[in-house]
Amino acid sequence: MDKYFINRRSVRNFTDRPVESSLLNEILTAAAKAPTCGNMQLYSVIVTRSPQRKAELAKQHFSQPATNAPVILTICADFNRFTRWCQLNNADAGFDNLESFISATADAIILAQQITTIAEQEGLGTCYLGTVTYNAPEIAGILNLPELVVPVACLALGWPDGPGIETERLPLEAFVHEETYRNDSDQEIISLFKSKEQYPANIQFVKENNKDNLAQVFAEIRYPRAMNEAFSQKLKDYLQSAGFLK
Ligand SMILES: Cc1cc2nc3c(=O)[nH]c(=O)nc-3n(C[C@H](O)[C@H](O)[C@H](O)COP(=O)(O)O)c2cc1C
Repeated sequence: MDKYFINRRSVRNFTDRPVESSLLNEILTAAAKAPTCGNMQLYSVIVTRSPQRKAELAKQHFSQPATNAPVILTICADFNRFTRWCQLNNADAGFDNLESFISATADAIILAQQITTIAEQEGLGTCYLGTVTYNAPEIAGILNLPELVVPVACLALGWPDGPGIETERLPLEAFVHEETYRNDSDQEIISLFKSKEQYPANIQFVKENNKDNLAQVFAEIRYPRAMNEAFSQKLKDYLQSAGFLK
């Protein structure tokens, strides 16, 4: 792997080669050394290998190509285990709230990224599936998740079939602010996105979607308002029923 993973890419096509349990367990053991809130390890990882359960999950991820991976990891914000341990020890567990959900989500996502980094170091390919929060209640049903366990990240994992597609990034000055936040002028915002707009794959993207520009593709096709609002409401209702918004 190159220095600082500067050439890393998400992988969405995988060979049939299985990911051995021993290797996966080694990766998960190492990944658990990632920082975690108060060292409480507020996460659980559900490993799905069964073709039938993978097919059920794939449906909830809108049959995205990466769901063909040999392993699907659903990484959950989990305050259930810790709460039960507290209750069994006569400790007042006040973790059924938004603050606790955010802490557990941070833990779960940091773990997910550590798994990604270590797996990629091993030559495995990974791809996040952001659809995990769109259909979180359905996924929770498939995986038998109890109260205070909410899926917040999902990784497709396997041996890469091909190198993945190179993507662009905004320049450093777009996201680094010295000392205090630099509120960019309209002109500066336009200029920060220039190279992204000129990236050949993105020019193609605009053309294919019949839009005037890349911003419209993102805001109106990929992540449209109505979809964001509908999935937000669904997620709020689910968090309530999962016991996190008391
Ligand atoms: C939170 C999150 C959600 C993502 N969701 C998806 C997804 O649903 N499907 C997919 O193919 N890629 C998904 N990705 C991968 C991104 O599309 C990818 O990281 C980005 O386009 C940059 O490409 P690269 O990782 O190859 O550099 C997701 C990444 C993140 C961090």
